[in-house]
Amino acid sequence: MQNIQVAIDGPASAGKSTVAKLVATAFGYIYCDTGAMYRAVTLQAMHDKIELTNESAILAMLKQIEIVFKPGDPVQHVFVNDSEVTEAIRQPEITNAVSTVASLPSIRTELVARQRDIASQSNIVMDGRDIGTAVLPNAQVKIFLIASVDERAERRYKENIAKGINTSLSKLKDEIETRDRKDSTRKTSPLTKAADAIEVDTTSMNIEQVVKEITKIINKKI
Ligand code: C5P
Repeated sequence: MQNIQVAIDGPASAGKSTVAKLVATAFGYIYCDTGAMYRAVTLQAMHDKIELTNESAILAMLKQIEIVFKPGDPVQHVFVNDSEVTEAIRQPEITNAVSTVASLPSIRTELVARQRDIASQSNIVMDGRDIGTAVLPNAQVKIFLIASVDERAERRYKENIAKGINTSLSKLKDEIETRDRKDSTRKTSPLTKAADAIEVDTTSMNIEQVVKEITKIINKKI
């Protein structure tokens, strides 16, 4: 039987990973956070002091590293080889640099191959920017999660405060808008809604409501 694939795409800070994790746990599917993979490559490139536009050097580095998630891990700890990078990849300097690395075509080709390999192993919920359009174009369920930029900045602000990161709301809003613009205008697999994706606007919904809505959509499709 073919594996079930649930693709969740959308702009920055729309709540994709929080919701995707909960939905994956509820259905007993594995969860794959593809943004974490682009973040891990960015972190490693910065650690190795590689210029973020030096595509061939980043690709050579990427071929040498393994990016590991533990299937079924509800926290989604992320490792580069044996080093845990779960927290490090969420730091603001990585968040603000990642779109540059994600625009490099050969880096995308390599990560998309790894993502398809992960998806071939089990039923999966995968979130990102190009899952429904490029990574898993035959996914049975495609969701495009959106929310107003004010709401997304507010959510990110609260998350940051809880983590002890202090960035003003207006700066966060600017950063989110900049990242969305870069992700939507790049040449290779830009952020766009797949023609057959169902859009869910979460602006005035809480997490529980979003999970319920997506659960309903999945149950109708599988
Ligand atoms: O989802 P998250 O915000 O962690 O993604 C970080 C960045 O990784 C995005 O802003 C985007 O540049 C890139 N990304 C991507 N394609 C994906 C997932 C993430 O280009 N499938």
